[in-house]
Amino acid sequence: MSFWSHVLDALLALVHILSDRLLEFILGWYLGDHKRVPGPPSVEQQSLLSKSAVDLAQQIRERKIRSYDIVKAYCERIDSVNRDLNAVVDGPFPEALDQAREIDRRLAKKEYTDEDFRRQPFLGVPFSTKDSTAVAGKLHTLGLLSRKSERSSTDAECVRLMKESGAIIIATSNVPEVNKWIESRNMLIGGTNNPYDLRRSVGGSSGGEAALIAACCTGFGLGTDIGGSIRIPAFNCGVFGHKPSSGAVNMSGCTFRTGKEKDTMVCAGPMSRSARDLLPMMQVLIEPSLKAKLKLDEQVDLKRLRYFYVASNGMAQCNPINKETERVMYKIRKHFENLTGKDVRHADIPNTKITGKMWRYWMTQEPANFNLLLGNGAELNPFVELFKKILGQSDYSMAAIYGLIDSVLPKEKEKLIREATAKCKKSVQDLLGDDGVLFFHSSPRTAPFHFYPLIKFNDFAYFSLFNVLHLPATQVPMGLDSKGLPLGIQVVSNPNNDRLCLAVAEELERTFGGWVPPFPLKQ
Ligand SMILES: *[C@@H]1O[C@H](CO)[C@@H](O)[C@H](O)[C@H]1NC(C)=O
Ligand SMILES: *[C@@H]1O[C@H](CO)[C@@H](O)[C@H](O)[C@H]1NC(C)=O
Repeated sequence: MSFWSHVLDALLALVHILSDRLLEFILGWYLGDHKRVPGPPSVEQQSLLSKSAVDLAQQIRERKIRSYDIVKAYCERIDSVNRDLNAVVDGPFPEALDQAREIDRRLAKKEYTDEDFRRQPFLGVPFSTKDSTAVAGKLHTLGLLSRKSERSSTDAECVRLMKESGAIIIATSNVPEVNKWIESRNMLIGGTNNPYDLRRSVGGSSGGEAALIAACCTGFGLGTDIGGSIRIPAFNCGVFGHKPSSGAVNMSGCTFRTGKEKDTMVCAGPMSRSARDLLPMMQVLIEPSLKAKLKLDEQVDLKRLRYFYVASNGMAQCNPINKETERVMYKIRKHFENLTGKDVRHADIPNTKITGKMWRYWMTQEPANFNLLLGNGAELNPFVELFKKILGQSDYSMAAIYGLIDSVLPKEKEKLIREATAKCKKSVQDLLGDDGVLFFHSSPRTAPFHFYPLIKFNDFAYFSLFNVLHLPATQVPMGLDSKGLPLGIQVVSNPNNDRLCLAVAEELERTFGGWVPPFPLKQ
């Protein structure tokens, strides 16, 4: 690099740092005092509500706790903290208590065989899903005023599979309009607040889900991810989330998909407080035809994997990686170097600096028309909608208006982007092979204040790269920064090697502690 390009880079970093500080200052002043979600009222409730889904399942099976008690506890927890979080669209569902009571009754009578337990690994465990994923009989608004009382008649395939695994649906959670933004705010429900600092963004689009999981309002949850929609909220709210390999989960019923679409960047996946929940959830969710390919049951020898990291995506539009975030990567590298006795090598991946453009292009190739979705079937005129917004007469959030305007801006150059994507993809595939794992920053900084992304939104390219490349990626919480906000890392592998990401996520949880409650723990 020449001298002048170094100078330019330094200037750019300075502009980013100054604008970041300025936004934090102004929005912090506007949004008032720092408040966190309150903790459960007793030590017993705290211990019950903060368990992992696999631990809940085991204790229900062994009749150490009753499914009824845990469903009731989560429903009460939602009732007591949703005013702070504003995360729920529909629920808590009273019939969940009846389902739990029936499970407890059958458990007491020993009516379940070992085979039943094997088929229903989450028997009696409460779960939730984002509103855009259909649940029979429940609201299915996609955050649109025009759909405020629309209910779904069927379950999305992933919801059906979760129910079949014995899990009990207790609520649906907030999303940005038609899932297409990195905050979870709309004109129907409003904005969802971050449990660690109610003034801050939960991310999007599975933001209601991440807030509920982090604040111990549900056992675990379902997200979907087309540009980071599982991982952004999981990062902002300090929980785990896994975006599976493309095609691994049937998308039928998620944002009106049929499940027959080919070559889509979107995938449904698990979100949880513990890394140990992700693999059994994946076993429930994956396409039967992919069981042999994904080999989720196969043991992973962490000492024999090859580990790589990337220090920055090099995108001029992104904030520079801050010191506390850099420190996370350093700690992880040191840990895996100690574990394997080999270097965690820096990876040079071409074209990550145009991730924003690549993702924007590939979004136009999706088998979905986001403008029609937003109009609930009617074509919206971006200029009319912008004008209405300015007059305060719009049914849409500013983020949705951005999306509409973006659709009439010049398109990306097709040939250039396709070539750039192919080169990037080949380089990662060659590098990682069948035993490589890549550590990639989640974001250059921790959860921003509400509205910050309306001004600086490009940081999400750290997530969307792996939608562009169709690679599995696990979001792992890595403790809190000096402001008490969740830090994190993404763990990435080649297609269908999800089990490597999940095994590494479990190792990171064992070593660094995983989810940290957003409230002070009662002793
Ligand atoms: C996904 O599930 C739907 C509904 O059950 C089904 O119609 C569709 O064929 C499935 N897709 C695939 C690829 O199996
Ligand atoms: C390296 O690993 C050993 C055990 O294998 C452990 O005792 C030691 O504390 C580790 N060092 C670091 C820096 O993590």
